[in-house]
Amino acid sequence: MNPFLDTIVSSTAQAAELDEGVVRELIAIPPDDKLGDYALPCFTLAKQLHKSPVEIAAEIGERLQPVMEAGDQVAEVVVTGPYVNFRLHRPSFVQHTLDVIAERGDRYGSRGQGEGKTVVIDFSSPNLAKPFSIAHLRSTAIGHAIYRIHDFLDWKCVGINHYGDYGANFGQLLAAYQLWGDPEKVKANPVPELLKLYVRFTEEERENPELREEARSRLRRLANADAEMVELWQFFVSEGRKEAERIYGILGVSFDEYRGESEFADDLDKVVDLFESKGLAEESEGALIVRLEGDDDEEVAPCMLRTSNRTSTYHSRDIAALLYRHKSYNFGKMIYVVDARQELHFRQVFQAMEKAGVDWVDNCVHAPFGLMSFKGQAMSTRRGTIVILEEVLDQAIELTREIIAEKNPELVNSDQVAKQVGIGAVVFADINNRRTRDISFSLEEVLTFEGETGPYLQYTHARFCSILRRHGKPVDLGVDVGRLDSDKEMRVARQLAAFPDVVAAAADEIEPSQIASFLLELATLANRFYNEVPVLAGDDEGLVAARIRLVDAIRSVLRSGLDLLGLQVPEEM
Ligand code: ARG
Repeated sequence: MNPFLDTIVSSTAQAAELDEGVVRELIAIPPDDKLGDYALPCFTLAKQLHKSPVEIAAEIGERLQPVMEAGDQVAEVVVTGPYVNFRLHRPSFVQHTLDVIAERGDRYGSRGQGEGKTVVIDFSSPNLAKPFSIAHLRSTAIGHAIYRIHDFLDWKCVGINHYGDYGANFGQLLAAYQLWGDPEKVKANPVPELLKLYVRFTEEERENPELREEARSRLRRLANADAEMVELWQFFVSEGRKEAERIYGILGVSFDEYRGESEFADDLDKVVDLFESKGLAEESEGALIVRLEGDDDEEVAPCMLRTSNRTSTYHSRDIAALLYRHKSYNFGKMIYVVDARQELHFRQVFQAMEKAGVDWVDNCVHAPFGLMSFKGQAMSTRRGTIVILEEVLDQAIELTREIIAEKNPELVNSDQVAKQVGIGAVVFADINNRRTRDISFSLEEVLTFEGETGPYLQYTHARFCSILRRHGKPVDLGVDVGRLDSDKEMRVARQLAAFPDVVAAAADEIEPSQIASFLLELATLANRFYNEVPVLAGDDEGLVAARIRLVDAIRSVLRSGLDLLGLQVPEEM
């Protein structure tokens, strides 16, 4: 996609008799533009090639120089110490890069590599007995981005909300409601009233363990299809779903399928059969389990298929759901976006299936993420230990409104922009971290228009849109952009050219944060360029028109990238 870089990689691999993948990994951007546009550091090759890095660089340089400089992509190959530096033929590089971006428009960045393949993504999947808290944001935001990225690469995507409508928390809610609930009040205002009841139960349960039996007995009645319990449970689930869908509406997230965990409790026999027919199911203290072998001497706890009360388990319900998904969608990839505390659970599910000879389970991955904690923020949103997501979003929107009122009081649709930016700030804060890291969240920090935030990116995008508006003329696609060969312009062009590789890696590694980092770097380079080069000033019309094309490409890639992360992209703010 960046043929200039491709040429450097393949020629270098050939000259050094190295694997292309190895070379691609090594190629870096020199810290000083005077050295070149790309560089190959030779340190790590020393071991493999049994020579010093300086010798290696000298040899590779010598071999490459005549070949590359004869072509029209690389202008110069220069060796400095342990580095081979490549200076591109800048005018053709910029011309090529901007032409491809203009030509492909909002499809730039996709190579259609998912064409013909299906990916199923299990994300958000909240437990509906609990309030929709900020803890749910991670799976929702990361999962949504993973969905959009795959969709952009032409995968057929199936987003599944495997919501939790089964298990202990419903026992708690049933007990709380029957012990303390006022049916009229709950009916009038279900979500906040049920939240109060739930929080009260979890708090009182700590002091008063007898309450646990109140919850358990009701759960048993529910499992035995006791009409009163079933009716209440259905009411809780339907209110929980309505609430979740309302929040998804605010976040702009949707699913192709909602299917609760409880549906798969009925498939218990099918799951048991699968393992029994292979002689893998074993009775243990009344429960039915599949024993698993760990690597080396590490032991893996067994996968429990059925409890001693002969009811399904989280394991068996997940196995049933997985069988159903494979049958329905025949996926090439199945991604579970679920927090890291469930790592063992998924390892057990996958290993048990593998033991049963289900070979396609290799295509299933758990994409875990770390926990989110809070700092430096007035916790008025706290109820017990729960931070309600919507309250965080409302606060973010309110604060954004204040910032806009101060910075741009004239803005026309300021209400809508405040929503887009406030929500974008919260979502971006979640995605802009390697998935597996625990993150600490502060509303004040995520809302700054500078630094590593969503608003900074949205603001940069709006800034480049405004340059185009002030230019007032259509972007001239015929203009010679080869003139944009200064260091600052090159840095931006080189970053723009990297976008397709970044998107591909974000999908392969299931790591949307790579796109977030890419966009932050692009915004920084682009702002630096604009701060130093007054694009619209000057009377060289050709140069202004050429720079406008760079501005347009920046705008376009920022927009695509933010869109992949699930952020709204206002053109003015
Ligand atoms: N409802 C679960 C929870 O809140 C997450 C479900 C994830 N998906 C799955 N197939 N297990 O922890």
